[in-house]
Amino acid sequence: MAKRPIIARSVPTLRKALAPFRKKGDRIALVPTMGALHQGHLTLVKEAHKRAERVVVSIFVNPTQFAPHEDFGSYPRTFDSDVKALTEAKVDLVWAPTAAAMYPEGFATRIAPEGAALAGLEDKFRPHFFGGVTTVVSKLFTQVMPDVALFGQKDYQQLRVVTQMAKDLDLPVKVVGVPTVREKDGLALSSRNAYLSLPERTLAPTLARVLKASAVRIKKGEPIEMVLEEGRAEIAQAGFAVDYLEARHAVSLAPIASLKDGPIRLLVAAKLGKTRLIDNIGV
Ligand code: PAJ
Repeated sequence: MAKRPIIARSVPTLRKALAPFRKKGDRIALVPTMGALHQGHLTLVKEAHKRAERVVVSIFVNPTQFAPHEDFGSYPRTFDSDVKALTEAKVDLVWAPTAAAMYPEGFATRIAPEGAALAGLEDKFRPHFFGGVTTVVSKLFTQVMPDVALFGQKDYQQLRVVTQMAKDLDLPVKVVGVPTVREKDGLALSSRNAYLSLPERTLAPTLARVLKASAVRIKKGEPIEMVLEEGRAEIAQAGFAVDYLEARHAVSLAPIASLKDGPIRLLVAAKLGKTRLIDNIGV
């Protein structure tokens, strides 16, 4: 049986657990998560093992990245089965801070990311989101001081924003993006897929299908705005409320008018019933 990882819940315990790894000169990889782990998260862990001798997974449902009307309270929390999966995945350390350890009484500092964080995509619908993400991720980076940190391309704007933040703050960590893990029918794995009813689950792969078809058409040279307009209509027709389907520069996330100004990333967000899904693909 695999050895259960150390579970740290306070910063001093975390530092104590990390000290012997550092002393040995082991490289440390960090995989930040909010738990409710699925194969997407576990793929980040697998990738982490390739890049470091020690793997740390953080589990923290971060209140500062949720708006009051969002699903912080009902976000799935499956700590015991997460630890079981991380044991099997041979993780060395689970960093699961309490809310008081992460945001003690009197906490008063917040990162305010710009650039890709103001691209008019997720930020337009969740204005508080990237401030909360960069605040917690910068804390995770200074708490764990990893050599490498792995993030999913599934949350593409988040990956761009965190990469830029680490660079801007001179944090000595290499941020690595890992391709999106999907179900057989194309649906990107997400902890929020658990919210979908059975009929919604059958419709959900529409997003991935439209992204894929749109990427092919744009690559062939069809006019970008026309392809996107038809894509939005198809997604709405399937029963989604579309927040956006956009073509952006893959690095800056700035709007892009033609293929030659690329590389292009297509990004989509849409609500199916009460569940908001996001996905993206390279052209
Ligand atoms: P969470 O949604 O739990 O995701 C943790 C990491 O898993 C993120 O880097 C995310 O992009 C990646 N991930 C999720 N689904 C994936 C999939 N299908 N394929 C590949 N990677 C996938 O993202 C967050 O948590 C939080 O915002 C966090 C960064 C932890 C800050 O609180």
